[in-house]
Amino acid sequence: VAVEPFDLVVFGGTGDLAHRKLFPSLYLRDRDGQITDPSRIIGVSRSKLDRKAFRAEVKTALETFVSADLLEKKKVSKFLDRIDFVMVDATGDDGWDDLKKLIADGLDRVRAFYLATSPNLFDAITHGLAKHELLTPKTRVVLEKPLGRDLASAVEINSAVADVLPESQIYRIDHYLGKETVQNLMALRFANVLFEPVWDSAHVDHVQITVAEKVGVEGRGGYYDTSGALRDMIQNHMLQLLCLVAMEPPSAMEADALRDEKLKVLRALKPIDETNVRQFTVRGQYRAGAIDGKSVPGYIDELPDQSSSPTETFVALKAEVATWRWAGVPFYLRTGKRLPSRVSEIVIQFRDVPLSIFGAAGGFLAPNRLVIRLQPDEGVKLYLMIKDPGPGGMRFREVPLNLSFADTFKGPNPDAYERLLMDVIRGSQALFMRRDEVEAAWTWADPILEAWSRLGRVPDPYTAGTWGPSTAVALIERDGRTWHEDVS
Ligand code: BG6
Repeated sequence: VAVEPFDLVVFGGTGDLAHRKLFPSLYLRDRDGQITDPSRIIGVSRSKLDRKAFRAEVKTALETFVSADLLEKKKVSKFLDRIDFVMVDATGDDGWDDLKKLIADGLDRVRAFYLATSPNLFDAITHGLAKHELLTPKTRVVLEKPLGRDLASAVEINSAVADVLPESQIYRIDHYLGKETVQNLMALRFANVLFEPVWDSAHVDHVQITVAEKVGVEGRGGYYDTSGALRDMIQNHMLQLLCLVAMEPPSAMEADALRDEKLKVLRALKPIDETNVRQFTVRGQYRAGAIDGKSVPGYIDELPDQSSSPTETFVALKAEVATWRWAGVPFYLRTGKRLPSRVSEIVIQFRDVPLSIFGAAGGFLAPNRLVIRLQPDEGVKLYLMIKDPGPGGMRFREVPLNLSFADTFKGPNPDAYERLLMDVIRGSQALFMRRDEVEAAWTWADPILEAWSRLGRVPDPYTAGTWGPSTAVALIERDGRTWHEDVS
């Protein structure tokens, strides 16, 4: 469905995110006819560029990050016609009037400002927008992550932005919420009657959420080394996934109803602090190893100054949601860089049958498992016990009901940013984080970070290309459980 005409101004327009994700996503939406004339996309940065040079830069970005079969000459050139560039000094006064002049004729359009910059600039940019009278009733400001590095800095940023804009005009991105399968988690739970009655501690033994990456820190070492896996992945993406699994059904698929329910989960997370951090968390850092048979350097060697570093590139932890529905059900989370495969999935492990009526001859009855695969090979698998065919009696085998999205739905799977950018233009905040959510997530994450630092907890080493330090295996095996490895 086409969206109404807009002006989208991208601060950080020459940066990595804009090149890698934003322009390719906008092109693909334009290519499908979702962007209507006379919409414009305006890159902003401190670089000295003119429109022509910037268009050339965007063209190169499309050629690099969009698959060749989707690049149609005519459509690319139509998209490039929408692109403009203005040099603005976010922290000074230069350039703002040029920007104002450029978009002055679009006063009645949706006006979106995408802040794809360091969060240090969010205050200056939003105040700059207000000072130079660029904010209109149809303005939306998009804030990229990371939103701060702890609760105090997040509150500071949120307060600065709230000085000039109401919450209804602020869109905090967590791109995991834009992933198809993440939205399918809500479809699975709330568009079907099957799962909700068994979605609780009486039926679920535990939940696992894994986001594994093969890549290292790749040129982002400067940022990453001040962040680490807990801030980079757990505080946002993985807690959002946990919320979607654990939340109560919202009364409507409406932004505040949904976010109210997620907030309740975040506030119900049992604190992890100095008293239990050793028991419930594992930090790791990769050493040199091999991925897909190719040797790769260790984390320290990938840092610009190749010094030592206390930053974790892997986290495994055991969380608990202290509510009637979930009390006693562990949520095991793990994420890391330089793991053997790129895979993100959520596993709902159900309880054992109360009694096996088949006796010893039936063999082991594996408990049911629902696996929601976010990437790659998006899909849903429900593992069931099935009788092995043949006359050999009642013997069982675990077999998945396998729903592969690629097989079921032909056609490309849109990138999360495609969906989220169009939601900004449509004014739909459901898949964006509200201020109180972000702050509640930091309220839970801060004591873990503080405990690690106070206890001098250095990351356990792991070899690149393995599933993290052995302590991560011990974390779950202590409870008589194992990390899920896909069996089919
Ligand atoms: C980003 C993190 O938010 O998410 C990166 O900063 C990480 O470190 C990325 O690589 C993972 O996203 P995706 O969509 O590739 O799973």
